[in-house]
Amino acid sequence: MTDIDATTCPNIMAIRDGIPALSRDIHGKPLIYLDNAATTPRPQAVLDTVLTYESQFPANVHRGVHTLSGEATHAYEDARRRIAAFFGGGELVFTRGTTEAINLVAGSWGETNLGAGDEVLISALEHHANIVPWQLLCARRGCVLRVADVDDAGELHLDTVIDAMTDRTRLLAMTGVSNALGTVTPIAELCATAKARGITTLVDGAQMVPHMPVDITAIGCDFFVFSGHKMYAPTGIGGLLSSGAQLEAMPPWQGGGDMIRSVSFADSTWNDVPWKFEAGTPNVGGTIGLGGAVDWLSGIGMDTIANRETALLADMVTRLKSIDRVQLVGTPSHRAGAISFVIDGMHPADVGAMLDRHSIAIRAGHHCAQPILERLGYSATARIAPAFFNTEAELEATEAAIRRIIDVFG
Ligand code: ALA
Repeated sequence: MTDIDATTCPNIMAIRDGIPALSRDIHGKPLIYLDNAATTPRPQAVLDTVLTYESQFPANVHRGVHTLSGEATHAYEDARRRIAAFFGGGELVFTRGTTEAINLVAGSWGETNLGAGDEVLISALEHHANIVPWQLLCARRGCVLRVADVDDAGELHLDTVIDAMTDRTRLLAMTGVSNALGTVTPIAELCATAKARGITTLVDGAQMVPHMPVDITAIGCDFFVFSGHKMYAPTGIGGLLSSGAQLEAMPPWQGGGDMIRSVSFADSTWNDVPWKFEAGTPNVGGTIGLGGAVDWLSGIGMDTIANRETALLADMVTRLKSIDRVQLVGTPSHRAGAISFVIDGMHPADVGAMLDRHSIAIRAGHHCAQPILERLGYSATARIAPAFFNTEAELEATEAAIRRIIDVFG
């Protein structure tokens, strides 16, 4: 056991044993999984909650009078309660993930609150999911998408965002952590500044939720969106957190079963929040799995996770900086989740493919964040995205593999 393991999470090997994908061999060697910004591996404890639903009470929710439906409804709503509590409260609407949650806000709140000339303010760091829905909305409503720039280190400064605000800014929609660079933004200050100017705020929390304790009350946003699969739950489940009053004031965005109170051919009326926004049969198993994931994360402790990841990221940054031909892309002062880099003379896709031959999984490409890479002068990078379950030995092996790739192919 290394110093980082011993000081930050002494039972890390037992935790790893509880994540089945980590025991796979890839190309004859143990997998080193460093693509956690794309998705996180699912712990057995989470898989078990999904399996219990699918095998024991695989019923629809809110609809049946039979026992299985009652059990499914209880598990679904209990997961909602625990997940909302994990994030500090608020009303939780289940969605397929961050992307769908942002589209929900754009399609419901945006359609009713924004008009010609109104401005949506995002940052240069945003993932495509927090750019394209606003572009579509702006095209429909005649509003304007404005972008607050970052500095050359990939840092987002409060002053720059304030400078980009105008008296037409109606929505500030910004990420808490950049998926491409790992930049942690001053999201609570951004939200406070926006609120003081009467600007509604949306926080893309997709890359925050696996890495740090999140309290939406402390962040102070109107909308917080996140994905389950970035925090050890299955794919296809995530959510939108907001206040009941905010959601009450918004119209439905998708029509169908469960989101109604009554339907006639003349007219329909809507269910209460949050069900008003959950048309059709939901991803019940995924929801229960997400509930399992917050229980699993709470058992480990988000402070423990944050401390350990800070140490692992610092270690990996130091290792990458020690390699001559490696150039870091983005050098933010406060980083979570991701390190982007390039190797002189090598395409990032080749770096990713060669690391895979060493059984190391990273992501290479534009990371669904083309504008920030272009802003820093790149079309693609390689990205190492460690999570708390990674070990110092894995980071050491990754450094060695990068050195070997440069020696052999460079
Ligand atoms: N947004 C995910 C990533 O950063 C897919 O890789």
